[in-house]
Amino acid sequence: MNILLTGGSGYIGSHAALVLAQAGHAVVLYDNLCNSRADVAQRLAQISGHPVPLVQGDMRDTDLLARTLRQHHIAAVLHFAGLKAVGESVAEPLAYYDNNVGGTLSLLRAMQGVGVRTLVFSSSATVYGEPRYLPIDEAHPTSATNPYGRSKLHIEEMLADLVASDAAWRVACLRYFNPVGAHASGLIGENPRGVPHNLLPFVAQVAIGRRPSLDVFGQDYPTPDGTGVRDYIHVMDLAEGHLAALDFLAGHSGWHAFNLGTGQGHSVLEMVRAFEAASGRAVPCRIVGRRAGDVASCYASAEKARTMLDWQARRALDDMCASTWNWQQQNEKISS
Ligand code: NAD
Ligand code: UFG
Repeated sequence: MNILLTGGSGYIGSHAALVLAQAGHAVVLYDNLCNSRADVAQRLAQISGHPVPLVQGDMRDTDLLARTLRQHHIAAVLHFAGLKAVGESVAEPLAYYDNNVGGTLSLLRAMQGVGVRTLVFSSSATVYGEPRYLPIDEAHPTSATNPYGRSKLHIEEMLADLVASDAAWRVACLRYFNPVGAHASGLIGENPRGVPHNLLPFVAQVAIGRRPSLDVFGQDYPTPDGTGVRDYIHVMDLAEGHLAALDFLAGHSGWHAFNLGTGQGHSVLEMVRAFEAASGRAVPCRIVGRRAGDVASCYASAEKARTMLDWQARRALDDMCASTWNWQQQNEKISS
């Protein structure tokens, strides 16, 4: 099948592109490169042995999207493109609504015009807001605590409205928990600009000596060691979840939401220890105050994806840390 990946040269999109190409699909990346590099397409071709075309364009360019869908005979779209920094979304909400909601609206118009009606959307566990119970299943109430999260909720709701208006649509909203790790080649991975906001990229930069120590945001949470607990999932498992979602949509129309997580929570200090073991490097830590907006614990029930998508995460914490470390070492050479 010919598949368009919006945001396909980014962190998660590039791993999904690889998994799809290796499963025999023809993939096309569509990205404006605001948070990724053009050479990702060549790297994907190098690893997969298949050509990976990149169309450089913006989500809000509906005409270019429609032309791309037609030219490449696209049958389904995986929609990763978007801005994702929570703090930035609070400072610049309009940029987030414009890019994320406006970009998705533009994509849906292009798809409708061309008659492509199969879509897998990159949603987030952030749509559950403050967890009311754990593990979080898909029936958990949704809410938003910041403009980024609200943009994801708006998009999910927009997709549900669209599906209700036309039964030919097939839509899966995949609610990612905490993606980490990289492909084993070390050729693709997460490349945060500036100071990383997320835990593992920061830990990796401390391990390699780019930063002196990790600030641990709070050790007074009601968790076993007092630090925050999250459901870290290997990005290759996450990527495989997209293949499973596409297979599912081949047999099901309608709107569907699935958690993609492991069902296991790990604390910040557990992650630090696992990273030290994988890298053989020390990761000095400083305990500081809580970060605004953080919750104590957040982890998924992965049952719905297991039973309906026949998918579950297989890769363990040591692989998540070892592949992050491998990527960090390779990437140090690229960025220096
Ligand atoms: P990323 O920034 O690495 O990838 C996003 C890609 O989209 C980038 O390559 C960027 O250049 C592109 N892009 C952004 N705006 C665009 C636009 N207007 N037009 C064209 N391209 C555009 O991020 P990622 O971590 O790979 O995330 C992918 C998706 O998954 C995002 O929608 C994100 O919100 C969602 N998500 C990510 C996480 C996470 O922790 N990484 C968690 C939950 C959900
Ligand atoms: N943490 C630190 N120090 C750091 C960075 C993080 O102690 O320098 C802690 C946080 O307090 C939290 C844990 O590490 O307890 C994980 O934090 P991340 O920032 O890596 O991830 P979050 O769970 O806060 O958020 C991520 C994405 C959000 C998304 C959410 C749910 O960044 O966009 O997962 O999917 F909404």
